[in-house]
Amino acid sequence: MSDIAIKPVSGGVGVEVANVNIDETLSEGQFQFIQKAFVDNGLVFLRDQDITPEQHIDFAERWGDINVNRFFPKLDGYEKIASVTKEKDQITNIGGGWHTDHSYDQIPAMGSILLARETPTVGGDTLFACMYKAYESLSPGLKTTLEGMKAVHSSRHIFGDQSAYRDEMDGVFENADKATQDAVHPVIITHPESGRKALYVNPAFTLHFEGWRAAESKPLLDYLYQHATLMEHTTRFKWAEGSIAIWDNRCTWHYALNDYHGVRREMHRITLEGSPLN
Ligand code: SIN
Repeated sequence: MSDIAIKPVSGGVGVEVANVNIDETLSEGQFQFIQKAFVDNGLVFLRDQDITPEQHIDFAERWGDINVNRFFPKLDGYEKIASVTKEKDQITNIGGGWHTDHSYDQIPAMGSILLARETPTVGGDTLFACMYKAYESLSPGLKTTLEGMKAVHSSRHIFGDQSAYRDEMDGVFENADKATQDAVHPVIITHPESGRKALYVNPAFTLHFEGWRAAESKPLLDYLYQHATLMEHTTRFKWAEGSIAIWDNRCTWHYALNDYHGVRREMHRITLEGSPLN
């Protein structure tokens, strides 16, 4: 195999790291190369990874502790791997809207490692958006306004027992009784590793700005969401079996497109433990 290499995939966000296998042959130097690509870009893709669930877990544990998502179904026999699957006859998918994982936790997941096991020939792509670019391209005035603000995030309306989405998913999600707590995070965070500022609100889990009513927050949040998802800030990833995306939840959003009805799609996700956001 030739030398490990990095290739940007779009002007918006994301790079592909090529010529590497993330099984036990992955050297420390190669691992650090992938980690640096992750910190520098917030989103890394790998192709053609022929790995077992055990190797997926071993690779994830090189990054740190695994944070087991309490709502997603688990892969049979693997508590640490979430099964992000849409069956042929299922209508609603998991992750079919812009979000960043676990912002409803006070210590949100740092990143996620998603591995494609079974993919539609056409459709089922994932969109990603760069929250560094979302922040950096705001006006100086709006940046200053947002700088001191915080927002409240929650899982109740998505994973709680009153959730219409949970009903549509027809028993797929677990632990509705654990969708109880809310979390408060700065609207603009400083990324703990890169030191760059990023917009940290998202359409799925952010309820309102702290100290503002939901109705007062909505117009500004709506503006931020449409700004964050300008095409220039995004990329679209076409999966194949063995493709992997490693995304940084502190500086990206993602959106699993639901455009492949009647076809099965199976993805395995491991979520990595994070740290408090400032
Ligand atoms: C997710 O939101 O973690 C799922 C992304 C995908 O299935 O493409």
